[in-house]
Amino acid sequence: MKLRVSVIGTGYLGATHAACMSSMGFEVIGVDIDPNKIELLSQGKVPFYEPGLEELLQQEIASGRLTFSTDFQAIKDCDVHFICVGTPQSTNSLAADMKYVDAALESIAPICKPGSLVVGKSTVPVGTAARLRSKLLEINSEVDLAWNPEFLREGFAVEDTLHPNRLVVGVTSDAAETKLKEIYQKNLAENTPWVRADLPTSELVKVAANSFLATKISFINAMAEVCEAAGGDVTVLAKAIGYDPRIGSRFLQAGIGFGGGCLPKDIRAFMARAGELGADQALEFLREIDSINLRARQRVIELVRKDLSDNLTGKKVTVLGAAFKPDSDDVRDSPALDIAVQIAAAGALVTIHDPKAIEPAKKRFPALGFEESVESALKGAELVLHLTEWKQYRELDPVKVKSLVSSPIIIDGRNALDREAWVAAGWKFRALGRAN
Ligand code: UGA
Repeated sequence: MKLRVSVIGTGYLGATHAACMSSMGFEVIGVDIDPNKIELLSQGKVPFYEPGLEELLQQEIASGRLTFSTDFQAIKDCDVHFICVGTPQSTNSLAADMKYVDAALESIAPICKPGSLVVGKSTVPVGTAARLRSKLLEINSEVDLAWNPEFLREGFAVEDTLHPNRLVVGVTSDAAETKLKEIYQKNLAENTPWVRADLPTSELVKVAANSFLATKISFINAMAEVCEAAGGDVTVLAKAIGYDPRIGSRFLQAGIGFGGGCLPKDIRAFMARAGELGADQALEFLREIDSINLRARQRVIELVRKDLSDNLTGKKVTVLGAAFKPDSDDVRDSPALDIAVQIAAAGALVTIHDPKAIEPAKKRFPALGFEESVESALKGAELVLHLTEWKQYRELDPVKVKSLVSSPIIIDGRNALDREAWVAAGWKFRALGRAN
């Protein structure tokens, strides 16, 4: 008989994982303490924007394999329990806040059936899995715990979950690995690389991967600073170094840097944990990665000041993009929104457009101006800031846009627009890491 699966925590990771597990043929129950989330998901509605997820969710609910509940008792017959709750940054330190992970484990431990396996997917400080495993065994000695980090990207969550580029399992027994192989049999049939690790290594793989990605982005943004100082062009530099297969061209897009609910908090939590372990020196460089990243936002603000004669008061600035990256409505630690807020605080009249993230952005910053249509947002602008590289913005006609604004100055904070086309249409075009 097919394994029965529970997913604890139905946020970004959990909702996607639950729908994907169901589409792999398992009977899945998603559990969350938030009744609104469960109500929406049960109706086939995804509470955030993720391409393809809502369709998959509806299809799986209709198949009868996927259900949701706020009642933890609903998981008691499941064979595998995935913990997918959030680990946000703590309010008073750089460390991750583990209260949701701990609460999830405590809720399920007494009701897991004998022989079942608890599998952590949340991003956690190294050492958490071993700690949770001891706690679990204290409460219920007939279950085991494994760790199976998730590498999905927002915007590609379904694709990344159904066809991951690797599967990493941290286990302490062959039985746990066998059960996970049963769960991921479809991926194994597709020859997805399978890495068996111990518990701490599996936790470290996740934060190491995110730290590497953050480092790559900050590296190219550091090169952008040097290019600006030396009169070079970082987009050409990135292209040229990217041809070296040892370097690779991905994640070398210079601009306003990384944001979102993962990279920034993960590198900080990693530093905090390394400090606790006495290995703080090893990750000292991540502090620099973080400051290069935050500096990119200030460099855009400096360009704005330069173009508006150092006086932002009453100047109409249009911001294209609020999400931390395209194809997402996630505004957590969004560089675009951070810049918009700082410019507004300096006196500018800011109007923000985003194809999907207006509502979440408005919820966070109700005092800022928002427009649903890109044309209305651009009307009368004295300066345009392109801060999230949605396809819609790349397809804008610079000639048409020029007829809407009052002054044709644009700063491309993502190095994603066609500079030649904008300059040919008569725009003053600025970008990070290129001659301005
Ligand atoms: C990231 C990782 O890429 C996933 O593998 C990981 O599973 C996930 O975090 C997580 O820990 O859950 P995500 O936060 O969805 O995924 O976003 P990314 O695609 O990594 O982009 C992060 C940020 O870097 C965005 O703000 C993006 O605009 C920025 N970025 C990306 C750049 O500034 N330049 C680039 O070249 C690439």
